[in-house]
Amino acid sequence: MTLRIKLSGIFGAVLFLLTIGFGIWIALQGKPYGMVLFTVHKLTAIGATVLAALFCFSILKNASAGGKVTALVIVAVISVIALLATGALMSINNDPVASYLRIIHSVSSISLAISGGGAIFFLRNILMNK
Ligand code: HEM
Repeated sequence: MTLRIKLSGIFGAVLFLLTIGFGIWIALQGKPYGMVLFTVHKLTAIGATVLAALFCFSILKNASAGGKVTALVIVAVISVIALLATGALMSINNDPVASYLRIIHSVSSISLAISGGGAIFFLRNILMNK
């Protein structure tokens, strides 16, 4: 595994954990959302997504993934889309729908952690065994 791929995996995981931490912090503080915390949460989320995608595609460029990895990547992509959409809607929405968005946002975080973590785990194994 090249250093670049390794670093994108490690920093991606660190940024993902920071995103969860800042997300919980924002949720505990409630509305109106603190601009600094909200911006940091969005930036770490985007950074984690970009680095995780870089990690996955760098490996997939040189190795073919099985159905298991493909399914996990599809679930991870759907979870990211749900996180981006619900995150944006929560920041502009102030009605009771926001509590449903919050549930979808939290559930998507968990499904992303499981699917993204699983995909990265299996991709790492593919690369190690090459
Ligand atoms: C990898 C992507 C992301 C992950 C894993 C993530 C994770 C989380 C988590 C775990 C929470 C705490 C939920 C709770 O305790 O109720 C949270 C809250 C929040 N996130 Fe995200 N998030 C992501 C992306 C985003 C994006 C892109 C936005 C904005 C566009 C956003 C906006 C928010 C907001 C506004 C809250 C506070 C919700 C509330 O009022 O309870 N998130 N996030």
